[in-house]
Amino acid sequence: MAYDLETASRALLVALSLAYFCYRFRETITGRLFPKEISPPTTPITANRKQNKDRTDGEWVPETFTYPSFEPVPVELRDINPIPYRPFRWGKYNVTMGIRNMPWDDWVQLDNQFFQYHKIKTHRVATRGEKGVKTLPERPGVVGGGHLAAKELVHELAEYLHRRYPTTYNVERGSKHDEGFGWYGLPQIRTITIVPIGVTYDLDTEDPMTVAALLIQDDLALMVEGSDGRYYFQAGAILLPGFWRMEDKIGLPLEDIHVKGHVPQYKEKLHLSMSRFFKRMAVDKPVVRNNYFLQVARPRPAPADGTEIMDPLELAWSDSTNGDEDAFTHGTPGTEQLKKERVPESLKHSEEADIPDYVVPENIRLRTERQSLRRLPRSGAVVFTIRTYLFGVTDLTKEKGIPGRMASAVRSWPEDVAKYKGRRLHEDVLLPYLDECHRQQLERGEAVEGEQTTDYPF
Ligand code: HEM
Repeated sequence: MAYDLETASRALLVALSLAYFCYRFRETITGRLFPKEISPPTTPITANRKQNKDRTDGEWVPETFTYPSFEPVPVELRDINPIPYRPFRWGKYNVTMGIRNMPWDDWVQLDNQFFQYHKIKTHRVATRGEKGVKTLPERPGVVGGGHLAAKELVHELAEYLHRRYPTTYNVERGSKHDEGFGWYGLPQIRTITIVPIGVTYDLDTEDPMTVAALLIQDDLALMVEGSDGRYYFQAGAILLPGFWRMEDKIGLPLEDIHVKGHVPQYKEKLHLSMSRFFKRMAVDKPVVRNNYFLQVARPRPAPADGTEIMDPLELAWSDSTNGDEDAFTHGTPGTEQLKKERVPESLKHSEEADIPDYVVPENIRLRTERQSLRRLPRSGAVVFTIRTYLFGVTDLTKEKGIPGRMASAVRSWPEDVAKYKGRRLHEDVLLPYLDECHRQQLERGEAVEGEQTTDYPF
């Protein structure tokens, strides 16, 4: 009997302790260890926006932001062709910000080139080091560091990507107290796997900017607001820039990035509107813009050892257009630097001509970027994504109306724009070729003289 009483009181004690434990830690148990995903709203919800509207320069108050739901892309990447951006217009060329609202679903656009981009980017990370990926520390009294924004960015990408491209990415979440980067009340993501190539990145231990860059096709720049209200380039993964180098721009405010690069009409047409736009940019109002350039890639013989050429189209750096990446002079358009004396004898058009032999339509490509801008809710940094597409000019001229429109756009460049975009590629070689293709399209009835339709940016 004494034995039974002792057992019963022990059992009661255990039951009471258990009940107390459950009561005391009920939120931890229900909310953190086993959280339920709240159903995403159809439009984003943001708090603290008012405080940020009236903020002192450089003093961002973290906003609570609930992302909208994302429509999953139902197919594999291998079945998605690159979006055919042709962002050149008929007639007059105007220097403007050229931004449009961005639907949330479209933040990052991936396609069947992803795996090639991933290979080139991984190689660039290994070979360029800090010239390609860098996060700067705080500069006291001037601007905060890029570390928090970089961490926030990689989590944002992982949250977005596995929802938008569920057949490509898998994530694993942690189950303990974390830094709160998870969306919809979930614990934050610990690892993300690119399923088709079986590569996993650890968000807790690996460099966030590097991982962010290797997850997508885009290059990335993080702009942090300084105490002077200007936006500083405080972290970046610029692996496929083509014609500018991150080492020349990192740490600079937006204005200097553009002025030192001699971006045409920046001071007169862009500076004021860009400064205002960056300062006011709200978390729930992302935007996108497109641009274009021309570049050339000289054909290279296949290596004798049977290995493949890593980047035959010169996506990462256009050596054939700009000369050697490490010898590049910041502030001079690349094509101006490709002097005849630096071109091997065998590659010169002629003794007099200042252009190499390989500058022929077959080797010229339209290089076009789709750029997006959005503000991160916690750090307040602005994320700039730059996705580069390359399209062969001889493919483009098969499309109805394109040769005429492209020739018109190139002819409409003001003097400074023509110089910036590379006169030496278009004047003698590209324009005569486009004119001839246009003439043939008119003859075949594939284009109509005077018809000037575009559904920008296509
Ligand atoms: C609304 C935002 C922006 C606008 C309207 C803008 C505008 C421009 C324009 C017009 C150019 C000339 C090439 C082109 O046509 O695109 C340019 C070049 C460039 N922009 Fe921006 N930009 C913006 C944001 C940024 C940001 C956030 C960065 C951050 C790194 C950046 C970095 C550059 C660089 C590195 C170049 C090349 C400069 C050179 O040739 O040295 N831009 N930008």
